[in-house]
Amino acid sequence: MRTIIYNIGTLAGILPADVRKLEGAQMNSVECIENAYLVIEDGIITDFGSCTCGCSGIQNPATTITTDVEYIDAQGGFVMPTFCDSHTHIVYAGCRDGEFRDKIAGLSYEEIAARGGGILNSADLLHDTSEDDLYEQSMVRVREIMAMGTGAVEIKSGYGLTVEDELKMLRVIRRIKETAPLTVKANFLGAHAVGRAYKGRQSEYVELVCNEMLPAVAAEGLADFVDVFCDAGFFTVEDTDKILTKAAEYGITPKIHANELEVSGGVQVGVKHGALSVDHLEKTTEAEIEALRGSGTMPTMLPGCSFFLGIPYGNAKGYIEAGLPVALASDYNPGSSPSGNMRFVMALGCIRMRLTPEQSFNACTINTAYAMGVSDQLGSITIGKKANLIITKPVPSLAFIPYSHQTPVIDRVILGSVTI
Ligand code: NIG
Ligand code: FE
Repeated sequence: MRTIIYNIGTLAGILPADVRKLEGAQMNSVECIENAYLVIEDGIITDFGSCTCGCSGIQNPATTITTDVEYIDAQGGFVMPTFCDSHTHIVYAGCRDGEFRDKIAGLSYEEIAARGGGILNSADLLHDTSEDDLYEQSMVRVREIMAMGTGAVEIKSGYGLTVEDELKMLRVIRRIKETAPLTVKANFLGAHAVGRAYKGRQSEYVELVCNEMLPAVAAEGLADFVDVFCDAGFFTVEDTDKILTKAAEYGITPKIHANELEVSGGVQVGVKHGALSVDHLEKTTEAEIEALRGSGTMPTMLPGCSFFLGIPYGNAKGYIEAGLPVALASDYNPGSSPSGNMRFVMALGCIRMRLTPEQSFNACTINTAYAMGVSDQLGSITIGKKANLIITKPVPSLAFIPYSHQTPVIDRVILGSVTI
């Protein structure tokens, strides 16, 4: 099946096929062409270009095959790659709106967690929810993020915290992978918090993660990645080192939660183990920048979490000025970021982190694609990549998208051969 999108006002986010991520000054620009067309065959971008004759691409030789062709008139809007959301926890049961009240009353994230709320609250809810119900509840969020322009999502476990419930979560993620039209990666986050039954016995819980959870997860091939919440009050650098050493035996690549609450050492231990990304980074020093320099690890910041918790924003600008890449993801979860709106993430990147619209766009597309191991297939307009695309209504500029961030500009979202 061939689809031709014509009458594209601006085709944005074009990159050569060998670019896997953008760093430092490379993040400053977004290659665009005006008055463009784009051809999709069997869900893959096979051609694109500009039209000089005024036909908006409809008469280009590549577009003139008349049989079995679907034509989409972009009506002068932007066409750009869908967002890649490389850090979410969207498989969860119920919600935590009660804690929202505690937060408004002045309790911090750590105080809510210390009272037995937080992640453990979500673990209790998930334990009492069937796998089918969990799948249905999660699919509501998957449909929500697809409609908002997300074409690839990484989903973590970590609300199970027992062998059975972690497997339940990961099986739900596998089912989403099999049934939803967006690209999904699964991340095993058994070390998200110490399970209730192990209260006060953290090192025994770490043994459970290493010796029972990881082997069971690997045996079913349920995880693309492994994660640890390496932060004050959660898991230590030593715990993290132990878990990542074990995960390496199964060939599972790490992605780490680090430096949300304190400068934790999580960045360094992540880099040591070849983590694909280290995420959060609300608190970092020069030492983290130096540790990341020359590594293949993507520093990933989660401005939706900073917004919701009222904690500092990561120093994205400083990282870019130091020549590093930066990715921005949503962290969609019930406790610290109950939103998966990547356009809002892009807007926060500009408004609160002072990234340019181009830097923020690159941070939410090609660099998040890299941070979830899919930048060979997604994250840019490139021949051979998946045709996961956003078509906007006519908008004056790329900057308008994060600037007027509540204006409903998305006209449609194409995920391969599915249109939303
Ligand atoms: O990335 N920081 C750890 N994990 C999540 C929050 C999970 C929760 O509170 O449910 C995060 O912010
Ligand atoms: Fe997270």
